[in-house]
Amino acid sequence: MKVVRCVAALALVATPSFAQGVSDVHRPHYHYAPAENWMNDPNGLLYYEGEYHLFYQYNPYGDRWGHMSWGHAVSRDLIRWQELPVAIPEADVMAFSGSAVLDWNDSSGFGKNGKPPLVALYTGYNPVTKIQAQYVAYSNDRGRTWNRYGDKPVLDISSTAFRDPKVFWYAPGKRWVMVVVLATENKVAIYTSGDLKQWSKASEFGPAGARSRSWECPDLFELPVEGHPDESRWVLSIDLDQDAIGGGSGVQYFVGNFDGARFTLDPSWGQQPVWADYGADFYAAASWNDIPQQDGRRIWIGWANDWRYAQAVPTWPSRGLMSSPRTVTLRKTTEGYRIAQAPVKEVETLRHDHVSAKDVRLAANPVNLPIKGGAVELQLDIDTGTADQIVVALTDEKGFQTLIGINPSIDELFLDRTRSGPAFHDAFPDRHTAPIKIQNGRAKLRILVDESLVEIYADDGETTLTDRFFRGGGQLRWTAQARNGSAIMRSVDAWQMKASPNNPG
Ligand code: FRU
Repeated sequence: MKVVRCVAALALVATPSFAQGVSDVHRPHYHYAPAENWMNDPNGLLYYEGEYHLFYQYNPYGDRWGHMSWGHAVSRDLIRWQELPVAIPEADVMAFSGSAVLDWNDSSGFGKNGKPPLVALYTGYNPVTKIQAQYVAYSNDRGRTWNRYGDKPVLDISSTAFRDPKVFWYAPGKRWVMVVVLATENKVAIYTSGDLKQWSKASEFGPAGARSRSWECPDLFELPVEGHPDESRWVLSIDLDQDAIGGGSGVQYFVGNFDGARFTLDPSWGQQPVWADYGADFYAAASWNDIPQQDGRRIWIGWANDWRYAQAVPTWPSRGLMSSPRTVTLRKTTEGYRIAQAPVKEVETLRHDHVSAKDVRLAANPVNLPIKGGAVELQLDIDTGTADQIVVALTDEKGFQTLIGINPSIDELFLDRTRSGPAFHDAFPDRHTAPIKIQNGRAKLRILVDESLVEIYADDGETTLTDRFFRGGGQLRWTAQARNGSAIMRSVDAWQMKASPNNPG
């Protein structure tokens, strides 16, 4: 959270939406975006009585950061969202990021008529004192309305950089655990509680891995190790507000153990930062609480933006969208423990008009791919042949172009958006790269495109690259080519993606 953001917020009360020169052509078809106004981090992710709740940092009054409140949407399948009224409004404090739990044994005493309450813990930011402290709100009506607990925070250390509490139930210790950042110290603090109101400090973690002006939005969860059903590890994800791998804000993670009080790095974990995503536009990732055990998935979602230019992206009437909800799993790789991500399987229910092609030969002359439009899933199995580079180009009618490609000789995946639409911010035109493992000359890519967003999943989800792109106008044309040699797309599978009802496209 930059100070600039606060100043902008105060100045913006009477600023009209700036609609000049921008329109909703970039509105996603199947990723979540509010109908209008500004959105940043996902908050309070919670599953309860058949509904996935998605709360988020929201400005009800404008399309830039300010008046921070918790916006709210619900879904039964993580894909088709219904936007609901603001859940936690700005009051004497702005409602910054946080989390929510089902207080299943009514430890807080907020329950009503024998039903457990939903309890949210969020950072209240006082614009006068600049203090950030942790507040509680609860709901007795399936998250529809929220009451703040008292006037005061439940956890206040008189800090101006103490935020983003992620709370969960730690069953072995029968207690609530909170991970929260001491942002400018690049530390995570861990607190525990029996009733969600009184918190005691248990430990600290950090600095470690990648450091920056601020660490933000931590999450901590346990995952089984793929293929080793009796083994598990804990993943601590931490966001950096700047200087991450994509150039601006981004998500790193650590793998280790957690004993209910302290997170310790796995002995195999190195000093180098490990990134959850290699693009510029995956931030503030947070995972759902209380997904039923029989489902068993760990699912997270990120804000598809980068703080460097988030307030300038040329979309209107909403500014801000979410990534796909993604399952997160843990794998032992040759580099050590790594997470793998995949779009939740529910995304597949949006597919229609499947087209496929086999053995598409690529050389210097671009060939047309059998895909149309900007709401698409694409799966490619590429035999890299003799080519130095294999590229898929998305070109609009004004000649703006976004390139997705691989450079087999250096095991590199890239997205080049140096010419992706009219200029709106210096930090936007760039090329982002990620390491991939090309084995026996074969690379498999799964690509989700949604009007202004590209999510690339490579190496079976071990590597993802998420980037926004923009366009100048007209239909997108999809072509592919190989440079300095030839290659073959052994298979191309593409689907058009249906629009979610909240995103009429
Ligand atoms: C991260 C963040 C959080 C803060 C929120 C304010 O993007 O800066 O640290 O709680 O946004 O909107």
